[in-house]
Amino acid sequence: MPTLATTVDGLKLPNPFVIGSGPPGTNLSVIQRAFREGWGAVIAKTISLDASKVVNVTPRYAKLHAASGEVIGWENIELISDRPFHLWLDEFKRCKDSHANGVLIASIMEEYRKDAWIEIVERCQDTGVDAFELNFSCPHGLPERKMGAAMGQDPDILEEVCGWVKRAAKKPFWAKMTPNITHIEEPGRAALRGGATGLSAINTIRSVMGVNLDTLRPEPTVEGYTTPGGYSSRAVKPIALRMVMELATMIRSEFPDRSLSGLGGIESGEDAAQFILLGADTVQVCTGVMKFGYECVKPMSEQLLAFMAKHKFETIDDFKGRTLPYFTTHGDLVRRQMERKAGQKLAATAAAATAAAKVVKSDGEWSGDEFVKQSDALSRA
Ligand SMILES: Cc1cc2nc3c(=O)[nH]c(=O)nc-3n(C[C@H](O)[C@H](O)[C@H](O)COP(=O)(O)O)c2cc1C
Repeated sequence: MPTLATTVDGLKLPNPFVIGSGPPGTNLSVIQRAFREGWGAVIAKTISLDASKVVNVTPRYAKLHAASGEVIGWENIELISDRPFHLWLDEFKRCKDSHANGVLIASIMEEYRKDAWIEIVERCQDTGVDAFELNFSCPHGLPERKMGAAMGQDPDILEEVCGWVKRAAKKPFWAKMTPNITHIEEPGRAALRGGATGLSAINTIRSVMGVNLDTLRPEPTVEGYTTPGGYSSRAVKPIALRMVMELATMIRSEFPDRSLSGLGGIESGEDAAQFILLGADTVQVCTGVMKFGYECVKPMSEQLLAFMAKHKFETIDDFKGRTLPYFTTHGDLVRRQMERKAGQKLAATAAAATAAAKVVKSDGEWSGDEFVKQSDALSRA
């Protein structure tokens, strides 16, 4: 029988499904609900020492729907928690009292000041939280105060801040990466050099959801205006997978003892399997919980177990990173394809020859009349 139980950075998780920081971990009552539903760990909503500076607006979400009506993209302009720090400390304690075995991770963010980072780490860990996630990645609102993604885009600052946290933290800590950068390995490497136990990727992607064609105002519209927000949900999964693959490749070759938590658009056990195949130790879900509720961890766990049973994998470690060796350069793909074609016996039937004729072999063969068919054939050929 395969098992989903896994140990990451010394944290014993019943399964790799972790609540990602955001509304699903925004107070004690919802965190306790997540543990009751069987989530492997909960990362609370990001907190800072002074919540009085956090002022949210409404509406702060905007959704992108597929033709079927399904929500596939989600933009938010929500800030970190607006709840006072002392309340959070009390709730962390009460959570550990009520769910001693539940793995509770505090997500923290502060300004670029050593004393502030040390204070937030020390006061949180006194409550008994099991680990930290450092939010270096919120793309809206906080960068105006040089926090969040403003820090995560600067490898030198990341390394320095992780160094401060490393000296204060008695618990593992993950640095949460922003996708709003060209080469995510660079800040990732800096955070690990600074001493982070692991990385989380990705936070939301800076976005504008759309423009209302009646009012001509951008959305989500607040008093007629907006500000670019963070994009999440299914639509971001391919970007998240690419970034997780790049970070996992870097971690394997340079920091093999560090961990990786993957997120961005995960809604099923099959999604989770893909992130783990690309090197994630754990998988986080945020928007998925807002779409389907806390109970979605059950079908996701069953789907992941079914995938493992199909391939005869006993543990998460049995397939973690299995797909990583199959990434190469474009030049190498060309070489491999030429080799295969050269070695192939040309015993094609007339029908096969006709089908092959539809596939564009060089850019001069594209035709205006056949354009859609030709485009389609290139995703199958
Ligand atoms: C409404 C909302 C609020 C969020 N708040 C936070 C936050 O406080 N801290 C944080 O690190 N990430 C926050 N995130 C980002 C998520 O944790 C996650 O990185 C991102 O949404 C991609 O994963 P998903 O597609 O599963 O939501 C928030 C996301 C959403 C949708």
